Amino acid sequence: MKLGWLELAALTASVASAKELAYSPPYYPSPWMDGQGDWADAHERAVEFVSGLTLAEKVNLTTGSGWEQERCVGETGGIPRLGMWGWCMQDSPLGVRDSDYNSGFPAGVNVAATWDKTLAYLRGKAMGEEHRDKGVDVQLGPVAGPLGKNPDGGRVWEGFAPDPVLTGQMFAETIKGIQDAGVIACAKHYILNEQEHFRQSSEAQGYGYDIDQSVSSNLDDKTMHELYLWPFVDAIRAGVGSVMCSYNQINNSYACSNSYTLNKLLKGELGFQGFVMSDWGAHHSGVGDALAGLDMSMPGDVLLGSPYSYWGTNLTIAVLNGTIPEWRIDDMATRIMAAYYKVGRDQIRTPPNFSSWTRDVYGYEHFIVNENYIKLNERVNVQGDHANVIRKIGSDSMVLLKNNGALPLTHDEKFVAILGEDAGSNPYGANGCSDRGCDDGTLAMGWGSGSANFPYLITPEQAIQNEVIFSSQGKGDVFSVTDNWALDQMAATAAQADVSLVFVNADSGEGYINVDGNEGDRKNMTLWGNGEEVIKTAAENCNNVVVIMHTPNAVLIGDWAHNPNITAILWAGLPGQESGRSLVDVLYGRVNPGGKTPFTWGKSREAYGPPILTEPNNGKGAPQDDFTDGLYIDYRHFDKYDYQPIYEFGYGLSYSSFSFSDLEVTPLNGGSYSATTGMTKKAPVLGKIGQASDYLFPKSIKRITQYLYPYLNSTNLRESSGDPDYGMPSKDYVPAGASDGSPQELLPASGSSGGNPGLFEDLFRITATITNTGKVAGDEVPQLYISLGGKDDPVRQLRAFDRLSIQPGQKIKWSTTLNRRDLSNWDTNSQNWLISKATKKVYVGNSSRKLPLSATLPTVQ
Ligand SMILES: *[C@@H]1O[C@H](CO)[C@@H](O)[C@H](O)[C@H]1NC(C)=O
Ligand SMILES: *[C@@H]1O[C@H](CO)[C@@H](O)[C@H](O)[C@H]1NC(C)=O
Ligand SMILES: *[C@@H]1O[C@H](CO)[C@@H](O)[C@H](O)[C@H]1NC(C)=O
Ligand SMILES: *[C@@H]1O[C@H](CO)[C@@H](O)[C@H](O)[C@H]1NC(C)=O
Ligand SMILES: *[C@@H]1O[C@H](CO)[C@@H](O)[C@H](O)[C@H]1NC(C)=O
Ligand SMILES: *[C@@H]1O[C@H](CO)[C@@H](O)[C@H](O)[C@H]1NC(C)=O
Ligand SMILES: *[C@@H]1O[C@H](CO)[C@@H](O)[C@H](O)[C@H]1NC(C)=O
Ligand SMILES: *[C@@H]1O[C@H](CO)[C@@H](O)[C@H](O)[C@H]1NC(C)=O
Ligand SMILES: *[C@@H]1O[C@H](CO)[C@@H](O)[C@H](O)[C@H]1NC(C)=O
Repeated sequence: MKLGWLELAALTASVASAKELAYSPPYYPSPWMDGQGDWADAHERAVEFVSGLTLAEKVNLTTGSGWEQERCVGETGGIPRLGMWGWCMQDSPLGVRDSDYNSGFPAGVNVAATWDKTLAYLRGKAMGEEHRDKGVDVQLGPVAGPLGKNPDGGRVWEGFAPDPVLTGQMFAETIKGIQDAGVIACAKHYILNEQEHFRQSSEAQGYGYDIDQSVSSNLDDKTMHELYLWPFVDAIRAGVGSVMCSYNQINNSYACSNSYTLNKLLKGELGFQGFVMSDWGAHHSGVGDALAGLDMSMPGDVLLGSPYSYWGTNLTIAVLNGTIPEWRIDDMATRIMAAYYKVGRDQIRTPPNFSSWTRDVYGYEHFIVNENYIKLNERVNVQGDHANVIRKIGSDSMVLLKNNGALPLTHDEKFVAILGEDAGSNPYGANGCSDRGCDDGTLAMGWGSGSANFPYLITPEQAIQNEVIFSSQGKGDVFSVTDNWALDQMAATAAQADVSLVFVNADSGEGYINVDGNEGDRKNMTLWGNGEEVIKTAAENCNNVVVIMHTPNAVLIGDWAHNPNITAILWAGLPGQESGRSLVDVLYGRVNPGGKTPFTWGKSREAYGPPILTEPNNGKGAPQDDFTDGLYIDYRHFDKYDYQPIYEFGYGLSYSSFSFSDLEVTPLNGGSYSATTGMTKKAPVLGKIGQASDYLFPKSIKRITQYLYPYLNSTNLRESSGDPDYGMPSKDYVPAGASDGSPQELLPASGSSGGNPGLFEDLFRITATITNTGKVAGDEVPQLYISLGGKDDPVRQLRAFDRLSIQPGQKIKWSTTLNRRDLSNWDTNSQNWLISKATKKVYVGNSSRKLPLSATLPTVQ
């Protein structure tokens, strides 16, 4: 019997000493960019540009000038000789963070719930325009890590869905949108950053955990390829310009130092042509990380606010002392500049005209050191007409989980009750809690660096009042009780109501903020702030209760979901600034809901798989987070163990109904698959390094305190570095092969942006007919799942979907394709994809468990 990795691990774990930790094999040298795919033009221009740069100029492109030294959350040095000011990197995945007069977009999880690729693109484009018009070069988003292994993981809402295909397609469309607006997107966080606890040891120490290393996510090669890496393939195929390496370790090697994930997987196998930047503080070694594939250090300093850098001066020195080969710094600079040309920044660049550190108009340019008092905030309004797409995503992402005829409302309701704090305003103001780090009033965004300031926030209470009282059809009365502990008043109000609209929520966010004992990750899966009691009170007193939930992912609803007095349930996610208006569009039937839940609603936390690791389990060393659930996250886990969900992945009701018929499978001439062979070219060397005396701190520059420059204090390199361990092999070990710039063997699964080109050849066309059998126009989402048939394969996996608008009585013939990747498994022996001999079936329907159509696929040669 051949053992899989998980079985082997289980076997060895029982005999091995506790010291044998998961290990990440070295992979060197770091692949140099070659301009493959549609990067040829950008590559050529980048090579030309970089060939004319000095070493210090190249180093400036790679290193941030230090935390809060410039206006953006991260800025590189500039190249004044060529008129290039430092690059601006700005959060977030849902808008321009730390700014003003910008939009607050719906979160990624809402985009996933629309299952609408066009809306994903339009949101990306609108966000890209706002970043562009504020002078941002790189928008730090979108997110596919976390993917969503943990439903209670703090940052799951920043990304899309715990399914690699739904996430991958939304990720790709968002990237295209951002980059079509002329801004470089940043696919993050690479990779396996699935929980907030212990992601950074320093942060964990702040919570009182006694550890000195960040968590290690330990994962086998097959699951890496078939699950977590999958969306990054789509990002690369969409042409993403940058990737952010994450805080956590992978197999006990930090994500920004991990030569296996960066050099082998990302740049070797997937042929990523852009640049890798570190998450803020995720950079852990100067020479080591450069050789492992990191291209840009953000925000540049060793610790946020420290005046030293692993790069900057140290990078100049490491190239001068020969530890980092010249081709490697050239490759870093070429990748960075290629991304710049690829999205057309040379055509449209304007300097940033806002400050992340103050909303005052005037302030210090170098904020952290109080130097150079200037006009900092131009207060440019960049919102355009983006409120429209925000409102549309808000309503199109709404998932109708239950409806016993209660919805849509008719305006005939004489007495409308609005119950729950989540309906109303935050008494501190919509932006009253820094980085949205509180849960007061209605919830429209999670907390952390993945947030943005709201320009305004239309609450459900405001929008419903407007609708009931001021709309042309309005003829009712409306009363709200928004104190979640005022249960007597709620009971009295519900008892009089024709309909009670009950608002509840749960919140989560990034680990540096603790809200009510939730250290980023949620500490429980229940509703916040007495939410269950609010629902119970309404349902005891009113037989027409509509529950509306604002949550980042699933909450446990089993205690009340089936209560007959609860006549409808809507999940509204984290809808952004137009929250209330998006909601009334659905409540009153102007928008027929067509969203589908992008995650499973289970009966217990256990049904989702192993819990978040919340206690260190390796002494002071890196907590070991073994991903023992492998491929089986979210619906794959429920299907494998046959757990009955309350509402399954992909499920959502409509005010209409739909039927599915006429499944057809047509083989296409996909060609045959061959492993890529051959060698790369040798690493190009662009320009001349010069010598130490060329890089002494220039007299012409006024030194800003603590600012990170590429220059040397003296021609004595050791002295300029100031590192007591300078030159010690133990300190900066150069791994075997890391300096080798000679032609390298190509990986079998490589060959184009995203991997072996054969993987993207279509093998089958699948068609099905979807009919609107109801009385109103509506949207339906045909979903195609595949069963790969092997014993280590999930029961079913999503492979294709589209959102269709269908008139009553209308039939639409939906057509989609399956390519070789869709049918393949990762084979760890050949380090390549292969189609197994097992019988493969496809299913089409409108959720992961409502699949009326199915067919066996013909064997692929
Ligand atoms: C982690 O270790 C497992 C088990 O040896 C291996 O399959 C996998 O490829 C490793 N991944 C990385 C990124 O090192
Ligand atoms: C590096 O960037 C800083 C900040 O923009 C600038 O002052 C300096 O002149 C740059 N150095 C070079 C060599 O261009
Ligand atoms: C940003 O402000 C600068 C002045 O500091 C101005 O030149 C630039 O045009 C502004 N950008 C936009 C998009 O308004
Ligand atoms: C160079 O890097 C080391 C850490 O490897 C650090 O201690 C030192 O301060 C750095 N030097 C500069 C000039 O930033
Ligand atoms: C779950 O956590 C939330 C937020 O901290 C809290 O309001 C709620 O009471 C908790 N639920 C239970 C059952 O403890
Ligand atoms: C449903 O609401 C009615 C009031 O309309 C109440 O009398 C009844 O007890 C409620 N049922 C439940 C199960 O709470
Ligand atoms: C989902 O499909 C089923 C048939 O499998 C159908 O009865 C139902 O109306 C569909 N629901 C929606 C919201 O399309
Ligand atoms: C280099 O010189 C500056 C200015 O005197 C000083 O602040 C800095 O600490 C020096 N760096 C090192 C590594 O000695
Ligand atoms: C080369 O420079 C780097 C950066 O300062 C330093 O960390 C490393 O120890 C040096 N190596 C040698 C061999 O001098």
